[in-house]
Amino acid sequence: MSSRRTSAFVTAALAASAIAAHVTTAAPPEASATAADPVARGRYLVKVMVCNDCHTPWHMGPNGPEPDMSRELSGHPEGVAVTAPPALGGAWQWAGAGTNTAFAGPWGVSFTANLTPDPETGLGRWTPETFVAAIRSGRHEGQGRPILPPMPWPMYRNASDEDLRAIFAYLQSIPKVRNRVPQPIDPPAAN
Ligand code: HEC
Repeated sequence: MSSRRTSAFVTAALAASAIAAHVTTAAPPEASATAADPVARGRYLVKVMVCNDCHTPWHMGPNGPEPDMSRELSGHPEGVAVTAPPALGGAWQWAGAGTNTAFAGPWGVSFTANLTPDPETGLGRWTPETFVAAIRSGRHEGQGRPILPPMPWPMYRNASDEDLRAIFAYLQSIPKVRNRVPQPIDPPAAN
């Protein structure tokens, strides 16, 4: 290769790597969070696995309804009373509360859990093993009653142990919120 051609080649290669670098930096920096920093990895996973959609109560923000991050992942607010499910039928088989933390359907009424580390009302007394067992088995605390819809544990159970443990590490790092979530309500037929 002549020196002129070499320098043209180097210039082209540099341009290509500049494009590659641009594409790489376009991803959120947290996406590269690894096992070396489980809390950062867990924060990233909680964001992309949309835990806030259901476990953080929604309020009206400047651009419409959005999760109220001052109550991050604290579950269905104890002050928001939800009683009998609305009448459903035909194509309408389930309904959600405005907070997006209570859901009525054929399973009765389910309320999203408080995932903050509060020891009385959240996951403060859980171990990483309890959390992994709950997600993998679809049973309350890994051994109790079935975890109700729409908690997407049938999909989340496919995550690696490392990722599930990172999610738990992040959940244990967020501010404690004292909020006692109600027990689920059975469907009328089961009463
Ligand atoms: C589509 C709504 C939805 C999403 C998204 C969601 N959850 Fe849930 N989750 C629920 C509901 C509803 C319950 C309560 C179910 C019940 O009472 O049986 C629940 C319960 C739980 C529980 C309690 C399990 C137990 O042992 O009782 C944990 C832990 C949990 N979710 C973690 C998460 C995490 C972590 C994420 C994100 C990776 C997440 N959830 C995303 C709806 C959701």
